[in-house]
Amino acid sequence: MYNTLLTSLENGIFTITINRPDKMNALNQEVMNDLNNVMDEVYKNTEIKSAIITGSGEKAFVAGADISEFSGLSQQQGMSLAKKGQDIFFKIENSPKPVIAAVNGFALGGGCELAMACHMRIASDNAKFGQPEVNLGLIPGYGGTQRLTMLIGKGKAIELLLTGNMIDAATALQLELVNYVVPQEQLLNKAKEILTTINSKAPIAVTKCINAANHAFTGIKGYEQELFGFSECFTTEDVKEGTAAFLEKRKPDFKGK
Ligand code: COA
Repeated sequence: MYNTLLTSLENGIFTITINRPDKMNALNQEVMNDLNNVMDEVYKNTEIKSAIITGSGEKAFVAGADISEFSGLSQQQGMSLAKKGQDIFFKIENSPKPVIAAVNGFALGGGCELAMACHMRIASDNAKFGQPEVNLGLIPGYGGTQRLTMLIGKGKAIELLLTGNMIDAATALQLELVNYVVPQEQLLNKAKEILTTINSKAPIAVTKCINAANHAFTGIKGYEQELFGFSECFTTEDVKEGTAAFLEKRKPDFKGK
């Protein structure tokens, strides 16, 4: 049913596995379309009570948006790409049924943004988080500038956004970016244990808790700023240099124009 996702349903818990292990599960447009459609299934299928999003393989949850799709984008195309990504991640965040990210490795760029759009995050002890877009001459475009700030506070969020540095699972736990860190082989079981508890609660109350907690933050203007910033980066020489350097496996030489 989905080219880029594996799905399974057990005891009301729907496990969605992003399945591009040879590309570190990077989010190309096909994955994004599949994620959009799979969330429709989560919303509509009454047998699904809650969901887990994870990545296939043992190395990566998701290593970001697919950088090869950034080459040669115009400002307008950058805007459409980010808007579509923001909308799909809003669909996850506003899901009436809880969604846990089971982060089994690298969660970088769009991968960190995907994990942050979920209601909770559980990490395996080899997980690494970061927003490395600045290395490409870019900024996050799928909600990362907003959700990182909400989850870990402005000071640390700005440090991670501006340095592009990765943090390990223990640091992510300390910063409250993740709820738990467990050995990789226990990751899905930990997520299922939490969701089994939640699935025994009143479903309407669960939905209303999610909705109310989401409304604690009114970041709509910030998301708009992110769209403008992300798309304006595509008018720069730096983004051409940054993305080409990644694909050519060399260090970028940014000129600030
Ligand atoms: N987009 C496209 N391809 C990606 C990717 C991405 N975000 N992340 C990884 N890949 C690809 C690599 O190009 C490589 O493809 P190849 O085998 O055809 O050359 C493959 O996945 C394996 O990645 P590789 O870099 O060889 O693995 P590694 O273990 O040396 O490094 C990472 C792993 C995650 C540290 C590194 O891949 C990385 O920095 N990825 C990009 C992270 C990023 O900038 N994300 C933000 C995007 S906006």
